[in-house]
Amino acid sequence: MDEGTTIHWHGIRTPNAMDGVPFLTQDPIPVAGEFLYEFDALDAGTFWYHPHQRSSEQVGRGLYGPLIVEEADPIRVDRDLTWMLDDWRMTRDGQIAGDFGSRHDAMHGGRIGNSVTINGQMPERIAVRSGERIRLRLINTANARIFGLDFGALEPVVVALDGQPVTPHVPDSNIVVIGPAMRVDLVIDMTGKPGDAVTVIDTFYEGLEYRLVDLAYGPDRLRDAVPDWSMDLPPNPLAEPDIASAARHQIVFNGGMMGQMMMGSGMGSMMDQMREGNMWFINGEAATGHMMDPLLVLPQGTSHVFEMDNRTAWHHPIHFHGHSFRVIARNGQPTRYREWQDTVLMAPEERVEIAFAADNPGDWMFHCHILEHQAAGMMGVIRVEPGTTKN
Ligand code: C2O
Ligand code: CU
Repeated sequence: MDEGTTIHWHGIRTPNAMDGVPFLTQDPIPVAGEFLYEFDALDAGTFWYHPHQRSSEQVGRGLYGPLIVEEADPIRVDRDLTWMLDDWRMTRDGQIAGDFGSRHDAMHGGRIGNSVTINGQMPERIAVRSGERIRLRLINTANARIFGLDFGALEPVVVALDGQPVTPHVPDSNIVVIGPAMRVDLVIDMTGKPGDAVTVIDTFYEGLEYRLVDLAYGPDRLRDAVPDWSMDLPPNPLAEPDIASAARHQIVFNGGMMGQMMMGSGMGSMMDQMREGNMWFINGEAATGHMMDPLLVLPQGTSHVFEMDNRTAWHHPIHFHGHSFRVIARNGQPTRYREWQDTVLMAPEERVEIAFAADNPGDWMFHCHILEHQAAGMMGVIRVEPGTTKN
């Protein structure tokens, strides 16, 4: 490329110096330069990698890839498929529209495209076999689009979120919701008859539903009954937060069009920052780059709960580097599965509590993964201060 870049290993718990954040953990790799990333893969699961430098455009133009760490002892399936879902803003003559960094995108839901791809293509149909069990790894690599996939008569079972095993379950309303940067591993039994087809529909934005792809059954049948193989993935070695001793921290998200701030309850300093083009705030501060004073300083080895409050009219997939966290409550209600995630999708006005053990020392990004929101300020740093590990 004719500009510098870095690679961030999204969801992989690397040492801080390998995290690929420009200026914070390394200088951008210059044109014709090189940088050696080296780390142990501690967790098995579905991850991905992408630049963290001018990511709205670099990722938006397709610079990313899947990163699968295989389980030593995987669950049994007939096929293991990966779908990287992306959407692109294409012009009438088939080029990627060059309007990156638009202020309108930044203030609203980010850069939503007009063409959705699976692994960079737009397949009409994907062949399946009657009776087949598929593990489908979904990775949302879009800058901003949230997907809500409806698999019709099929019953997808969620077995992992953001690479981390979860109690196998059918998602609410049978819709698989996946925000930017998130991953969902599904186990799907192809229960239709030979020659049938099922249409996968993205239903997330009301009134804008579209057909993603058809799953088309071939003429033969692989087996008659649904297999009774276990869907339980082996757990990864994550440090369990101690909720009883955890320090609680309030984290408030503000900004954008039509939020509480726009409705008149905004603080003066945020209004001033908005005049300078920063549109999103974490605890009243808009980031203007990757270098900043930490929002919080946490001693290594201690447990923490973030009480996150989305005071905006928009969804935000909030990502924390270097750690996975448990999502323990939404709007005051305990979650059913206390799922481990590295990116949690917050609905407008939603309150979400996450818990984690601060076990990886360094300065870690904490940001919205709608890349235009991140670029317009929705980013902070959480410092895990090395020291003697306390219990
Ligand atoms: Cu997927 Cu801070 O990144
Ligand atoms: Cu956001």
